[in-house]
Amino acid sequence: MALKRAFIFLGPPGAGKGTQAKRIAQSCGVPHLSTGDMFRDAVSRGTELGKQVKPIMERGELVPDDLVMKLVEERLSRPDCASGFVFDGFPRTIPQAAGLDRILEKNGFGKLVIDFAVSEDKLMRRLTGRRTCSVGGEIYNVYDAPSKVDGTCDVDGGKLTQRADDRPEVVKERLAAYERQTKPLTDYYRRQGVLETIDAGASVGEVQSALHKILKDARS
Ligand code: AP5
Repeated sequence: MALKRAFIFLGPPGAGKGTQAKRIAQSCGVPHLSTGDMFRDAVSRGTELGKQVKPIMERGELVPDDLVMKLVEERLSRPDCASGFVFDGFPRTIPQAAGLDRILEKNGFGKLVIDFAVSEDKLMRRLTGRRTCSVGGEIYNVYDAPSKVDGTCDVDGGKLTQRADDRPEVVKERLAAYERQTKPLTDYYRRQGVLETIDAGASVGEVQSALHKILKDARS
């Protein structure tokens, strides 16, 4: 990655942002920044922030912008973000996007936004079937991408767990929050001329190839 650039993965819950962000960040040698993972970490450590956001996440609602921006600004000030990063699940509101624009401009970063487009019926199956390794965070799906041994991570043997917000009633609220607060960001970024849309309903490998092509074209 020659330019200082932020990659932003936008899309509904379960679109595959985390699955792809891990891979792309690894292949580009930049950090994968998931605000959802950061909040879940705070919840599991029982910090003040974790106590504040736990009930909000359990309801499937968005965390208030001021808390999100504080967390993001702190994370972006660390040295590993100096040349670029992949955002997954951030920004999610217009004020968050405007706040990020100010940070990127101040620090001389360009940006590329990828919108993960996928139908709602696939999202419910992906979310309710998702299992995540409690050690390394590897993502599986009991229907479409199961681990070799049920309940155990193929990579490090960690226990696979289901996210508390992947219950069908919470998923419905998360999808509604996406429609209401996050979807308008596609127009916001389209107007800036930085939006690419991919068919995220395709297989993991196909989505990954499409992303690599977009990133390669962006570099040339
Ligand atoms: P967050 O953790 O960001 O969750 P999300 O955006 O709802 O997205 P997910 O992680 O559920 O889905 P994903 O697109 O990453 O899909 P994945 O790759 O795992 O946010 C959680 C909560 O935190 C929010 O509700 C909110 O409360 C709070 N929060 C976080 N950020 C915030 C912010 N900026 N502002 C305010 N609040 C915030 O894949 C899903 C499943 O599908 C997996 O099982 C996977 O194996 C499978 N899969 C993936 N790709 C494919 C494919 N191509 N084909 C078949 N299966 C696939």
